[in-house]
Amino acid sequence: MNRADQPPSRRAFLDITGATVATGLLAGCSGDSARPAPSASPAPTPAPAPTPAPVPVTGRHQAGVIHPGTAQPHLLAVVADLGATVAPGPLLAEIGEAIRTLTAGSDPRLLGLPPGDLTVTIGVGPRLVRTAGTALPGAVELPRFSRERIAPPARGGDLLIQICAGDALLLPVAAAALLEQAGDRVRERWRQFGRRGSEVPVAEGRSAPRNLLGFIDGIVGPHTTAEQERDLWLAGPPAVAGGTLAVLRRMELDLTRFAALPVAEQEAVFGRRRASGVPLSGGSPASAPGLGAKTPDGRYLVPVDAHVRRANPTVVGVGHMLRRSYSIDHPAPGLLFISFQNDLRTFTATLSRMDSSDALLAFTTTTAGATFLILPGYGPRRPLGSSLFG
Ligand code: HEM
Repeated sequence: MNRADQPPSRRAFLDITGATVATGLLAGCSGDSARPAPSASPAPTPAPAPTPAPVPVTGRHQAGVIHPGTAQPHLLAVVADLGATVAPGPLLAEIGEAIRTLTAGSDPRLLGLPPGDLTVTIGVGPRLVRTAGTALPGAVELPRFSRERIAPPARGGDLLIQICAGDALLLPVAAAALLEQAGDRVRERWRQFGRRGSEVPVAEGRSAPRNLLGFIDGIVGPHTTAEQERDLWLAGPPAVAGGTLAVLRRMELDLTRFAALPVAEQEAVFGRRRASGVPLSGGSPASAPGLGAKTPDGRYLVPVDAHVRRANPTVVGVGHMLRRSYSIDHPAPGLLFISFQNDLRTFTATLSRMDSSDALLAFTTTTAGATFLILPGYGPRRPLGSSLFG
């Protein structure tokens, strides 16, 4: 049945009666109730918001990393453990199939909601990866860093379910469907909702959102296919080829203390202009920060403790990470930092270097952290997880 064939809903009925009552009242006020008021004709029905285009589920890589090209505005990350005796292979294959039906809109558990650009991305934690091979990428836990206040359940985990969509309503519905599919084979540890700020154009065909500190976040990264092959996707061994490594860190931000700084000091913390994202050394938002550029009196334009200097991949000596972070407001305002890279050292060496002197870190406390092997893409003859646990 298409939309036009559907009987009017109770809600639509109430809207129409409401309009009639309001019109009657207006007419009564005019002092000439016999003459129809100009607003007597019903207000035009607003056109339904366009549903975003679906994102292909199958292929060499899972959706939700580089597709869609601009990350959806809403995210729900669910981290869970598998029971000690649960075989990952059949569970992951079932989850992959449930993702296919959910994103196709044919799963009754979606309750008729249009899936639009819904994506679900699945990762497995180091304990599970080690059961497939102790030397595989993803087999190593994330080390500890400074400024952490992580309760035991919020550190690590066996399974990541990253759900993203333009429609926030889809997130808990899709999560419930996938957790129902897994049943008592999994136990949830923690979940986090996130929201991306409005997108700001930063280069030809590319945008990035603002974060809660008001800065554009996500400018530098592996954006070309060649950079993604080099720094993002795992090329091998075959069990993991087409996958990548994710790092999640939930970071509380001290908004009050940051907001109390003059704008120039806020910009010195990052090494970029707050309004435009342009590096303090000049150029455009996409220009590489000029780390050697100095003022006439010999001070670095990008301060020595600025975030973009401390985190600069060339200075750290690592590849580019794809940062796909979401702002959060619960349990406290902050950032769910999410990065994807094909070498965990890209993250660990960067944060180790930041740990010693990055002006930004003084405003952060990390309250959850984990790393996951994002499984290679899948398809009808290659179920999710089969290359590792088949
Ligand atoms: C609450 C914490 C954080 C916030 C608010 C934040 C925000 C930002 C912002 C605004 C930029 C500049 C624009 C851009 O290139 O996207 C940036 C750059 C960057 N950040 Fe962060 N970041 C945070 C934590 C981290 C962490 C934990 C890492 C990794 C260990 C990291 C790695 C990077 C990298 C690699 C760059 C690019 C540096 C460059 O080459 O210019 N950030 N971040």
